[in-house]
Amino acid sequence: MTVPHQTRVRFLDPGDSGFVRFHHMNRIDYASSRNSDPVRPLGRPIPTTSPRVVRRPVAARPVAIQPVALVPLALVLVALLLPGCGSDTTDPGPPTPEPYVLEVPESFPPMRVPPDKPLTVQGVELGRKLFYDPILSRDRTQACGSCHAPEFAFTDHGLALSEGIHGELGTRSAPSLVNAGWLRTPFWDGRTTSLEDQARHPVPNPIEMDLPWDEALPRLREHSDYPGLFEAAFGSTEITEDLVVDAIAQFERTLISGNSKYDQRQRGEVEFTDSEERGFELFFAESGDCFHCHGNVLFTTDDFRDIGLELDPAAADSGRALVTGLAEDVGKFHVPTLRNIEYTAPYMHDGRYATLEDVVRHYEQHVQRSPNLDVLIQARLDRIDRGQRLTDQDILDIVAFLGTLSDPEFMSNPDFADPNR
Ligand code: HEC
Ligand code: HEC
Repeated sequence: MTVPHQTRVRFLDPGDSGFVRFHHMNRIDYASSRNSDPVRPLGRPIPTTSPRVVRRPVAARPVAIQPVALVPLALVLVALLLPGCGSDTTDPGPPTPEPYVLEVPESFPPMRVPPDKPLTVQGVELGRKLFYDPILSRDRTQACGSCHAPEFAFTDHGLALSEGIHGELGTRSAPSLVNAGWLRTPFWDGRTTSLEDQARHPVPNPIEMDLPWDEALPRLREHSDYPGLFEAAFGSTEITEDLVVDAIAQFERTLISGNSKYDQRQRGEVEFTDSEERGFELFFAESGDCFHCHGNVLFTTDDFRDIGLELDPAAADSGRALVTGLAEDVGKFHVPTLRNIEYTAPYMHDGRYATLEDVVRHYEQHVQRSPNLDVLIQARLDRIDRGQRLTDQDILDIVAFLGTLSDPEFMSNPDFADPNR
């Protein structure tokens, strides 16, 4: 596990409430953080002395902790538990999973990790294997990673719409899983409430992996590796749907990207080119106005907006309204993060735009007036009516700035790659 800039990292204390622990508490106002909403209880009761929770004794100290220092400690603990070390003959059971030390950039808000689902090294590793294993699709050809490929920042190989195992096209583009741990309601219309909840959907979905859970679970139970891996991660060889999605969500929470050129520039380590600098200023100014929806450190407000995309009557996708049933939500879609956006073309919920330049031109030239058009987009139309347009150079500068959100360290992180290859 690499720790690129240790002094800027916060750690998850797995024995704590499930939130990331800060080393600079004074900088962050917990109460006002939208991400600190109470976490919906997720099925299982919150264990107080679960075998999966390993308290890291040093975590209470307000100092930066070197995660590598935990490894020897964990090894000592494991060694103490190994059978045959002492005169005690009772079966100590499987070794306790080691806490996974989540590295969150200091500038990020806390990640909401359900308190009863602490990350462990073994859980993350199991989730990664499941994420890339086509065993979870009917004809064993498709895994989560088939449509969320790491080399495309966890999107679908440049495809506008994803194809399921039977070659049927879905109606939406596979979103990037970059910083998925901060999503409050995954999917373009937000129809799920957690990563665990989301992961239940693609496996049985007939136009995705098409494998009912009651057929998927026996496959895993009969597999030569999985029972042992579940035991290592969860303390029992029992394999359930809940544990499968728990492990996959653990892996997804590790997909953190926060070391782009933009971050380095914010830390004063590098400088932008002139074009990137101009694009940065436009992005965060009323004249360019991207920042109201994509302006925080995650580059998304994580809510639903109508940005005036022409609705395709054939697709009949009314977005957020499919979930709420409200007329005022027709045409609203989730605001996506822009981190690593360079790698995730084509763009929008239906992949309608091939390039980032097309996207910026949409905001400037192709907005459709619709009943639920966001007030910010309306304000842009009003500015355009007053003759305040972005020039072609402005548009190229904004695109250049978007390129600074690419994080090569994230894109080439071996911990995120398919372990089965
Ligand atoms: C056939 C391609 C395909 C497969 C296989 C697939 N996905 Fe997806 N995924 C998509 C598409 C398309 C969407 C958007 C659907 C929507 O919003 O209605 C999506 C959405 C998501 C989201 C929500 C992201 C966001 O920003 O809202 C997550 C998380 C996710 N998938 C994880 C997974 C996991 C985990 C698996 C495996 C269990 C998986 N996907 C399998 C295509 C796929
Ligand atoms: C009112 C909020 C809002 C504003 C302002 C806004 N966006 Fe967006 N942006 C969204 C939403 C919502 C989507 C997804 C829309 C969809 O697919 O239906 C989106 C999509 C995008 C995408 C495609 C992302 C992907 O994964 O497909 C890019 C790139 C983007 N915006 C960049 C910008 C830029 C650059 C600006 C400023 C010129 C900007 N946005 C201003 C809300 C906004």
